[in-house]
Amino acid sequence: MGVDCLIIGPEEALESIRTYKPQGIIFSGGPSFVHQKDSPTISPKIFSCGIPILGICYGWQLTAQLLRGKVIAGQKEYGPAQLHMSAQSPLLQGITAQDFQVWMSHGDEVIKLPKGFEYLASTPDVRAAVVADSTRQIYGVQFHPEVEHTQHGTVILRNFIENICSEKIQIRAIDVEKIIAAVRDKANATGTSSRAIAAVSGGVDSTVASALVAKAIGKRFTPLYCDNGLMRVGTTAEVEHIFTDLLGVKPSILDCKEVFLEALRGKTDPEHKRIAIGNLYIRLFEQEARKLPDVKFLVQGTIYSDVIESKGTKHASKIKSHHNVGGLPADMKLELLEPVRELYKDEVREVGRQLGLPEAVLMKQPFPGPGQAIRILGEVTAERLAKQQQADQIVLEVLQKMGWYEKVFQSFPILSGALTTAVKGDGRVYGELVGLRVYDSSDIMTAGWTHLPYEVLQKISSRIVNEVPGVSRVAYDITTKPPATMEWE
Ligand code: XMP
Repeated sequence: MGVDCLIIGPEEALESIRTYKPQGIIFSGGPSFVHQKDSPTISPKIFSCGIPILGICYGWQLTAQLLRGKVIAGQKEYGPAQLHMSAQSPLLQGITAQDFQVWMSHGDEVIKLPKGFEYLASTPDVRAAVVADSTRQIYGVQFHPEVEHTQHGTVILRNFIENICSEKIQIRAIDVEKIIAAVRDKANATGTSSRAIAAVSGGVDSTVASALVAKAIGKRFTPLYCDNGLMRVGTTAEVEHIFTDLLGVKPSILDCKEVFLEALRGKTDPEHKRIAIGNLYIRLFEQEARKLPDVKFLVQGTIYSDVIESKGTKHASKIKSHHNVGGLPADMKLELLEPVRELYKDEVREVGRQLGLPEAVLMKQPFPGPGQAIRILGEVTAERLAKQQQADQIVLEVLQKMGWYEKVFQSFPILSGALTTAVKGDGRVYGELVGLRVYDSSDIMTAGWTHLPYEVLQKISSRIVNEVPGVSRVAYDITTKPPATMEWE
């Protein structure tokens, strides 16, 4: 929203308030329950600092508990709920609808408000859905205003910032030349011959980060691309084209399909697969990087949401092992160049546009590091990989042809490993069930399944069942996140 903010742990809160003098404080949500041993807490002194506070989900429950309200283990609720507004407040200003959808993800519930609080809005299951103590300027919301699927969520956050904290919102302008100059200065500080390397994947973030470095230091930069065979069809050729033809920097492309299959052999647990891929990737990358002279920097396409999801605070729960943040062994002693670390996805795309990268690259769907391996449930074999890639290509082609590719956040098939019966050419076939996951999201934290037209679903289903050998059935996944994650593994 263009407001400076700082993410800190509750233990440092009072100290940070003295240092930074914030205009407002948000207590975030989190995976804990207030009655659980060692759940994060905060000194109640924070409530008498005179700084407005907004508690979100766990943050609100903690507020209620510390101020002597009552919190119980309620009915677990994940996903959409209908909110009904019952009172006016600067927090809800400008929302004309009396009822609207919000996104819930909680187990505990506040059943008695602390003294001085009043109800502003409720859902059929949660009376204390929006509450306020307007004298002390303490607010609480049980749902998540920060996620895209909560309607008017940004209005609520903006109201907190502008109406309650009296902070002016300014859209931050991105100065691409300044980012390039900063990269150049950092690189040149170690000498004008020092080199940088990057692990590129063809995805938006690593491509934009690399493009910035290519502009800053030109041929002193080498992008490395490891063709692990787990990517989408055509990714390798595309990476070669972008770097060689558009950015004038030749990528080093390693063919490592066989070693990845070997590393995945016999592995069925999703986390084991992720770790095997991550470790092998780092090892191969390191081997290659050591061959180049005078390498001092590693370029990473880390963006701000990676920082929050992977390392945010010690209280965040680890949902899946992602490999975007962190990386190489410490003994390589490479300094990180992360030119888009402070930016959100939409800002990264804007930078890419200003650098002249093609829209097809900038609007590309995100693709997970472990690639098709986490979309093939169970063991990954060469045969299953070929099947998955063929089905994946069909899903992409149909969505592109029928005008849906860019409207959705991600779309892909999943090889389920379950066998089901079909009748093909009058004969009985016992083939694999393929799942289809297509959904909308912009913040990655929440997602709703896309209401694709029946004709589009029909086309995908018929093509997969007819063209991919050994597939008997296609099922569309209609589960929201939360509770279901986007990937099946
Ligand atoms: P989930 O499945 O956690 O996915 O709802 C959220 C987003 O993260 C991607 N994803 C991954 N990306 N390494 C990655 O680089 C991984 O191990 C991984 N697992 C999930 C997923 O595609 C979605 O965009």
